[in-house]
Amino acid sequence: MELAGKNIVLGVTGGIAAYKAAELVRLLVKDGATVQVAMTEAATRFVTPVTFQALSGKPVFSDQWDPRVANNMAHIDLSRQADALLVAPASADFLARLANGLADDLLTTMVLARDCPLLVAPAMNRQMWENPATRRNLATLRGDGVFVVGPACGDQACGETGPGRMLEAEEILAELIAHFQPKLLAGKRVLITAGPTFEAIDPVRGVTNLSSGKMGYAIARAAREAGAEVVLVSGPVCLPCPSGVTRIAVTSALQMRAAVLQRVAGNDVFVAVAAVADYRPAEFIARKIKKAAGSSAPSIELVENPDILGEVAALPAPPLCVGFAAESEKLAEYAERKRRSKNIPLIVGNLIQDGFGGEQNTLILFDDDGQQPLPPASKIDLARQLVGRIAVLLEKR
Ligand code: CTP
Repeated sequence: MELAGKNIVLGVTGGIAAYKAAELVRLLVKDGATVQVAMTEAATRFVTPVTFQALSGKPVFSDQWDPRVANNMAHIDLSRQADALLVAPASADFLARLANGLADDLLTTMVLARDCPLLVAPAMNRQMWENPATRRNLATLRGDGVFVVGPACGDQACGETGPGRMLEAEEILAELIAHFQPKLLAGKRVLITAGPTFEAIDPVRGVTNLSSGKMGYAIARAAREAGAEVVLVSGPVCLPCPSGVTRIAVTSALQMRAAVLQRVAGNDVFVAVAAVADYRPAEFIARKIKKAAGSSAPSIELVENPDILGEVAALPAPPLCVGFAAESEKLAEYAERKRRSKNIPLIVGNLIQDGFGGEQNTLILFDDDGQQPLPPASKIDLARQLVGRIAVLLEKR
């Protein structure tokens, strides 16, 4: 319920992506928002107001002269309580009218008369998106402080492929939630490792750690929401990349180390969340090992992997380094020992109680100011609190 208490006015303009706006209303409502839908006349040709009324639980407006509004000022009335005005889909024509300050229907009048932030999710054919007039309009809108979310690149309803496709409803929801987060890391660059590493023995077997990657991905999302430019170096996990984050997929610890060392320069923060395998097989056997009946079990010689966090912390001008310590006992003692041995300012302790991969977690932050327990919460909540602490430590540096 990340949008609990928020009033969102959703503007829908005429485009085939209007069908995705129906799903968006459902997601917004499910997340706790109160949603007021306003449609252009063209939008009602694609999806009827009845659909939006049923999903939002509120009457839908499309006419500037709607007699249901007592003072006949629908454009003022509907947007005054709004925390944000979101237009999805925003057609090329709508963006053009907006860029020129036109107010010739209910939605454009409302947008012009608003006193809250405006987000637009463009949706159009790729050629319309690339047209110099659209580029010009987008630049004007950005300059006016309008937040443009998307579009994505891909298959289009017209049969072509390219940029201009509206973001999926889940992605627009994530962008809206991000919009409401404080920009504690604006202008900062954050590098994160997440997930397990997999150290191959032969083509079908390997050594790995249990890690869902959820905590690292939540931190990547929280850092991006806080305004940072985020690169996520991820071991093999089954998670979608958080919106706006650059993901580098790796498999082994050596690949993870190479990806990190290649990109670490210029970062303000390095957060090592990955459960890196401490050891890897000394050699990779190119053919699948066959079991030989009657002979003894094969032994695998292991060699130690490099400590990625330790290496980054030892750089001449390291970013602010944050480590994780997952322990099944003596959390404070082991976490502090790790913090000192790796020479890092902040370590996040995690007492392993209920196994891995859950949606909730309990964490304790250890830094020069002592311990700060974070009560049980969802991983994204914890990630946002951690980002808050990182911002404080950056400030102190
Ligand atoms: N780490 C790393 N590279 C490694 C191993 C760990 O970057 N090769 C990072 C992890 O991402 C995490 C922290 O270091 O932030 C964990 O420290 P470590 O001492 O390696 O933890 P464990 O492997 O759990 O150590 P131990 O077995 O001693 O408890």
